[in-house]
Amino acid sequence: MPATVIVGAQWGDEGKGKIVDLLAQDSDLVCRYNGGPNAGHTIVAGGETYKLRHMPSGILWGKECVIGAGCVVDPGVFIEELDGFEQRGLSTHLVRLSGDAHMIMPWHLAIDQASERRLGKLQIGTTRRGIGPAYADKAYRLGIRLQDLFDPKILRQKIEVALAEKNVWLERVYGVEPIELEELAARYEGYAQRLRPYLADTSLLVDRALRDGKQVLFEGAHGTLLDIDHGTYPFVTSSPTVAGGACTGIGIGPMRIDSVIGVAKAYVTRVGAGPFPTEIEGPDQERVRELGGEFGTVTGRERRCGWLDLVALRYAVRLNGITSLALTKLDVLSAFAELPVCTAYELRDSTRTEEFPAHQSDFHAARPVYEVLDGWGETLDGELPDSAQRYVEFVERELDVEVSWVGTGAERERVLARESALH
Ligand code: GDP
Ligand code: IMO
Ligand code: MG
Repeated sequence: MPATVIVGAQWGDEGKGKIVDLLAQDSDLVCRYNGGPNAGHTIVAGGETYKLRHMPSGILWGKECVIGAGCVVDPGVFIEELDGFEQRGLSTHLVRLSGDAHMIMPWHLAIDQASERRLGKLQIGTTRRGIGPAYADKAYRLGIRLQDLFDPKILRQKIEVALAEKNVWLERVYGVEPIELEELAARYEGYAQRLRPYLADTSLLVDRALRDGKQVLFEGAHGTLLDIDHGTYPFVTSSPTVAGGACTGIGIGPMRIDSVIGVAKAYVTRVGAGPFPTEIEGPDQERVRELGGEFGTVTGRERRCGWLDLVALRYAVRLNGITSLALTKLDVLSAFAELPVCTAYELRDSTRTEEFPAHQSDFHAARPVYEVLDGWGETLDGELPDSAQRYVEFVERELDVEVSWVGTGAERERVLARESALH
């Protein structure tokens, strides 16, 4: 398929990086369309672990990589990432940044941190990378874009205008140090030198690639349930994470997309606060966390772990128009004799539903209805044992979507392509 979106179908960390890396091998272009350094995509290849923040997961194959207008970029973090890849012998000369992408500025980081502290128990549990404040300023039309770096007069003026307001907030509302103009302007002028070769008209570049019949992957960050419009608001990130975001975030029309691959774990994790109906109670939560290595890539926080939730996954299939699924980390479930899978929610009025509740209070109070499937009691290596096969087929039947890939380990090679992946 020439244009394929790869989207997280849960609350993030589904293993998108690994699946994008797998498909990037046979692609020409890999594009990130949303988010920023709140993302952490891990690829394990040749005994090396790579943790990507801004960088599309095509970089390991030396593919052309695009960071689209829908992303927010922290130039300092991005430059560190560039240096890191170059030091490991990976070329970054085919990376392209949209000049329309907004920058994460130091006040965004300061406000994200201070506002979370201030919210106390009500905090969202953000990655504290300035994401929410950067997208808020974009919507408020106070944002500073990458292209502004290349006109020092405009850059300085925009920083001045923003600081006049932000420093009042920082000092008076949050009681933290104000930010100094001169040092900041000089630092960002320095970033301009380094970033100039990477800037491009990325919407045009992607359009031409598609016209030339090239294979293009659109890599979503985070997950469907963290989507700003359709996720579990307010416990969400601040960008469109759903597949539709690929069109707005890159600058192509919706008719250009050919297929949408949803990536889901064979169970569920969530970092940060917010409702989570299938969160495991008791020691099995800790077992899943240890076996799955469920600690945040960006923040190192423990990920909350739960059993597979097909109500939420059915919602993700709908919101994204998922045409096939990659079910990752099935190997982590090998240690369990019995595997509860949530097929419906019981609501406050004792009714049952297979559809994701439209009202937040119904979702907050939803109780999972489980069907318990048999475990397989052996490590996964090669062909799937019968019970593992049945687990995968159960998911397919319940969602009416084919599972085309099954993840059986962190390494690049540890993935089984099923029949449907071949056509
Ligand atoms: P992403 O943000 O969706 O790219 O996912 P993360 O990289 O944040 O988290 C997924 C974690 O699971 C990473 O540490 C991967 O190396 C690892 N992983 C991916 N697929 C599999 C799999 O099939 N089995 C196991 N055991 N680990 C996997
Ligand atoms: P990848 O791309 C998991 C979560 C945070 C928090 C909420 C808001 O690696 O799957 P933010 O810093 O974005 O304002 O935080 O969203 N979150 C993620 N959780 N994986 C991610 O990215 C996430 N990106 C944001 O934990 O609950
Ligand atoms: Mg991640």
